Amino acid sequence: MTGDSAAVPVIAIDGPSGTGKGTVANHVARSLGFHLLDSGALYRVLGIAVAKRGIDLQDVDTVAAVARDLDLEFGSSGPGSIHLNGEDVSLEIRTDLGSDMASRVGAIPQARAALLERQLAFRKPPGLVADGRDMGTVVFPDSILKIYLTASAEERANRRYKQLIDKGMDVKLPALLQDLTERDARDSERSISPLKPAADAFVLDTTTLSEKQVMDRVMEMVSRALEQA
Ligand code: DC
Repeated sequence: MTGDSAAVPVIAIDGPSGTGKGTVANHVARSLGFHLLDSGALYRVLGIAVAKRGIDLQDVDTVAAVARDLDLEFGSSGPGSIHLNGEDVSLEIRTDLGSDMASRVGAIPQARAALLERQLAFRKPPGLVADGRDMGTVVFPDSILKIYLTASAEERANRRYKQLIDKGMDVKLPALLQDLTERDARDSERSISPLKPAADAFVLDTTTLSEKQVMDRVMEMVSRALEQA
């Protein structure tokens, strides 16, 4: 990292899936005019790239080589869009396969190392909001604010269920809960960069909070952190 980029403020928003991290991170980035890193999207693209090429996940060197060589383009067909080798994979990475593969490649230390530089490169003036699992602990440990959003597994599965039903999809709540619990376990128990709050993170349990209450509390913390930075 250069001295210049170290001076660029980072706000880290970590936590398990279904806590509304992505929505919160988007909102904070837009309010401040900061860049946004959706690090989960990088793991999802890598997972999809590995699946498309039929690479065995045990072959960690090849997975890491794919991670290093990913040909990615962000935002060329709208905010949040991602192209892999010129193909729009924005929807594909959000499928169950994308979620499952992301969590699996995320457990490979060589893959995490290969994605590190790409994540650091998002740190540009005037600032960055970084959303993920290890933003505050590993990737940007000098973040001016670290927020760890959490909620009970049941509540997170419920939120996801409602989202998918609203999209007209045929899903079952028990299967969603089981899938989410398995992913949580894999993300939390891996030896490298496990999902856990940084020692200096503010932990916000959103189980009983509305989206607006979460946003209000987060924006309060952001304003305070920027004043003190
Ligand atoms: O945030 P998300 O649901 O899009 O992340 C998908 C998976 O990617 C998640 O189950 C674990 C992995 N991931 C990770 O290991 N480290 C990150 N910083 C972000 C995501």
